[in-house]
Amino acid sequence: MSSRVFLNEVGLRDGLQAQPKHLTVAERCQLMDSLLACGVSTIEAGSFVSPKAVPQMAGTDEVLGYGLEKASASRFNVLVPNRKGYELAVAAGAREVNLVVSATDTMNQKNINMSTAQIMAVCEGVIESAKQEGVRVNAYVAVAFECPFEGRVDSGQVISLSQRLLAYGADRAVIADTIGAASPFQVSRLFREMCRGIQPDRLACHFHDTRAMGVANVYAAIEQGIRHFDSSIGGLGGCPFAPGASGNVATEDIALLCHQEGLDTGINFAAMVEAVELVKQLTGTAKGGRAYYWLSTHMERFTEKKGEVA
Ligand code: COA
Ligand code: ZN
Repeated sequence: MSSRVFLNEVGLRDGLQAQPKHLTVAERCQLMDSLLACGVSTIEAGSFVSPKAVPQMAGTDEVLGYGLEKASASRFNVLVPNRKGYELAVAAGAREVNLVVSATDTMNQKNINMSTAQIMAVCEGVIESAKQEGVRVNAYVAVAFECPFEGRVDSGQVISLSQRLLAYGADRAVIADTIGAASPFQVSRLFREMCRGIQPDRLACHFHDTRAMGVANVYAAIEQGIRHFDSSIGGLGGCPFAPGASGNVATEDIALLCHQEGLDTGINFAAMVEAVELVKQLTGTAKGGRAYYWLSTHMERFTEKKGEVA
């Protein structure tokens, strides 16, 4: 199985969308520079959503535009909740978009004011356009383990939505534990079942560390062959529409896990520690992942060139 792990950095979107302090576009661009230096595979630059619903994400076109001056479009993706968001994203230069379907009707209503059937129809149409325009699509299945409104989610529903989204033409299905309720055994069971019908490289994971199981869940998914993970610098994150959601699993925690297991993430550890320090300073709320303290006090063990544990 491949020893390459791909990290999609979501700090600029999931990380900031529920922050009490709204970062300016200039601050988000400063963070973008710092994240590009880390060597993460891809960066979610923000979301093209209603600024009334999520004011923190206003100006995502400018943040994405700034990134596109520094790196190729294939390094970036953005969240779009509907066709309008897709059109705004493509007009701003996006070549990869993230659609979100929650596994329950109540969560879809609270998040985007649509039923599951309605958002699936929107996804089918947007994916069709994206395929014609050569835009990559990641289709998220949110609240994949537990919904804050409806409770435990049936794995059959998650598998069925993922299969349908892939059949519409999505490049990858991203299984998202939006409120961080999953445990490693559940993750193993779900992916064992999913990978019977879906190639593991067409799946990705998005975990939150609410119950301190983020890294264990990543490990469980790695064991099932998954190699694409969302992570957030400093462990920042949360959804304004999902009560109880706390930070994403930290980029530094996954990066250290992977390196200790001999899996290559392409991360430059020194640059990553600087990015954690920046996000702490900019937000005032990011704590840093659990690996941050050890990493920041053992930098001499890292050869900066290779970004590997000596
Ligand atoms: N980007 C910017 N503005 C948008 C938009 C988008 N993607 N989609 C709709 N709008 C605007 C409409 O133009 C309209 O503007 P107006 O009031 O100035 O006329 C307004 O938003 C309402 O449009 P409507 O289609 O009736 O949407 P809604 O009120 O049912 O809200 C969403 C639906 C999806 C736009 C809104 O719920 C949303 O942006 N949610 C964000 C969810 C999110 O980010 N969750 C966290 C990540 S999963
Ligand atoms: Zn999330």
